[in-house]
Amino acid sequence: MTSAKFITFEGIDGAGKSTHIGYVADLLRARGLTVVSTREPGGTELGEALRELVLHKKMHLETEAMLMFASRREHLAEVIEPALGRGDWVVSDRFTDATFAYQGGGRKLSIQKLEVLEQWVHPHLQPDLTLLFDVSLEVARARLDATRDLDKFEQEKATFFADTRAEYLRRASQFPARFRIVDSTRSIADIQQSLAQIISAL
Ligand code: TMP
Repeated sequence: MTSAKFITFEGIDGAGKSTHIGYVADLLRARGLTVVSTREPGGTELGEALRELVLHKKMHLETEAMLMFASRREHLAEVIEPALGRGDWVVSDRFTDATFAYQGGGRKLSIQKLEVLEQWVHPHLQPDLTLLFDVSLEVARARLDATRDLDKFEQEKATFFADTRAEYLRRASQFPARFRIVDSTRSIADIQQSLAQIISAL
């Protein structure tokens, strides 16, 4: 039996990743695996309370970054590490790459400071696979405009998302062994076909 793996889903708001998380979890369950599906910020009771704050309150940029890592610390201790320890697979809607992309790329917080927080919170653990759902800013904006109440991040300007996307793509080229870029402008059926191929190789 393949050992437990940690899979993360990333992309700018409107990239469409949430549509595909259930599909990937179902593919894994069909292989007889136990899958824990979770998200960041959030994933625990405390993390969900932090999510409410960080998505809706104005705050200093460094406070925002530290709350992302505080939520993550709890998430690792309460959900991710115990699940992997039991041999379950974990699929998470966002993880640390999101902090580098949004707080680092989008908001311009020093990458070195984020690396210090990453070293503090999870010095050893990295995802086994990171699926980066990538779309143009125009497609992402059109998808967001079609949705309900926008949170603090979703209301940001195009330049913020351009910088966030650029940092995601930079990280994908920095860590090619774990990143797969999924062209998310395609139809849901085409994307699912790519996902099935990627997952079958795990
Ligand atoms: P979601 O809408 O994909 O659930 O993500 C919530 C928002 O939080 C999204 O706009 C991205 C943002 N975010 C960060 O800015 N930094 C982070 O570390 C994480 C996990 C999310």
